[in-house]
Amino acid sequence: MNFEFTEEQKMIQQAAKDFAERELLQDVIERDEKSLFPTNHIKKLSELGFLGMMTHPKYDGGGMDTISYVLAMEEISKIDSSVAVVMSVCNSLVNWGLETYANEAQKEKYLKPLASGQKIGAFLLSEPEAGSDATSQRTTAEDKGDYYLVNGTKNWITNANSASTYIVICQTHPDKKHKGINALIIDKNTPGITLGPHENKMGMRSSDTHSVMFNDVKVPKENRIGEDGFGFTFAMKTLDGGRIGIASQALGIAQGAFERALKYSKERKAFGTEICNHQSVAFKLADMAVKIENARNLCLKSAWLKDQHQPYGIMSAMAKQYCADIAMEVTTEAVQIHGGYGYVKEYHVERLMREAKLTQIYEGTSEVQKIVISRSLLKD
Ligand code: CAA
Repeated sequence: MNFEFTEEQKMIQQAAKDFAERELLQDVIERDEKSLFPTNHIKKLSELGFLGMMTHPKYDGGGMDTISYVLAMEEISKIDSSVAVVMSVCNSLVNWGLETYANEAQKEKYLKPLASGQKIGAFLLSEPEAGSDATSQRTTAEDKGDYYLVNGTKNWITNANSASTYIVICQTHPDKKHKGINALIIDKNTPGITLGPHENKMGMRSSDTHSVMFNDVKVPKENRIGEDGFGFTFAMKTLDGGRIGIASQALGIAQGAFERALKYSKERKAFGTEICNHQSVAFKLADMAVKIENARNLCLKSAWLKDQHQPYGIMSAMAKQYCADIAMEVTTEAVQIHGGYGYVKEYHVERLMREAKLTQIYEGTSEVQKIVISRSLLKD
């Protein structure tokens, strides 16, 4: 067993750290407060190659491994999860799904501009009445011969406004339930698509989240990914990898809050000494560090399994559940260590705590991960 990172992995980690500290930190509080999408930062992120970092170079991606992706996601999430989620959706949910399951013509037309970072993608699965219960898709893709007619509403869509390319999960054969679902590539500018208002979220306020309405949207048959009825399997397989991205995001949030709490505890004095000298604080720091180390190991193990082409769905569900849950615990403790200062914006930890909450909800709640894990354990 080798716990060493390669030189290339370390370089990617350092590049992500430098980018986050130099570019993102300066306006992260303002963007969070005003709910401003980080347009310029995303442009730089794409120039650095992070939006398509795992896609094969023959499709204009960076050809990096999943371990590097975890390292980069952690560094960026330590400072700004709103930027990290754009990176995660593009890499894991959109580019990976296209690279793995789209045909060559689709890859040429849609994957290349995404992997090179010229365009942004979005993954449209959640609906007003189909969040965790993803098989209950109500958005329909009616088969009209050489095209599909799409009608319905998708909710909570990350990158809904900034993306040019949507991957939309819809129902074509309701009688076949999840086996009648399709995944369609849809250009955001297609007539009949409208967006709901920007969601005024609790955290990750700088990422753009909207509902998306489809009203008689015509989509060429050639835009279907895989065979008729492959859409649900496509979505589940894609989410297996997506969970590594969000697990790494949660890890970064926890690590960011921990580093701030550690530093603060060495500076702040109370009862005649720095507060880190009080066991009540030192033990909190120890507990936080143990949780973060476990979380990082789960992220890296699921990434390693994926890179080794071994089954990784259960490990990524474990990583997602654990990292999200400890991110909530660690950020809450970080606020507590900061006392009153933790409750105001300048110290960042209240924002990290709000961001942590979302990691327990999106790309499958912590409860969904437990469904995935327990079903696998109970399977004969
Ligand atoms: N890989 C391949 N196939 C899978 C699979 C996987 N990981 N998981 C399930 N399947 C298959 C099953 O084998 C089954 O197939 P058969 O009928 O042929 O046996 C089929 O899919 C249905 O599976 P289940 O019976 O397990 O389905 P279920 O209704 O009980 O639900 C679930 C399973 C795990 C809860 C699933 O619905 C789920 O993952 N829900 C959460 C959805 C989610 O994560 N949404 C997030 C939206 S994306 C997002 O948030 C992006 C963003 O913007 C940041």
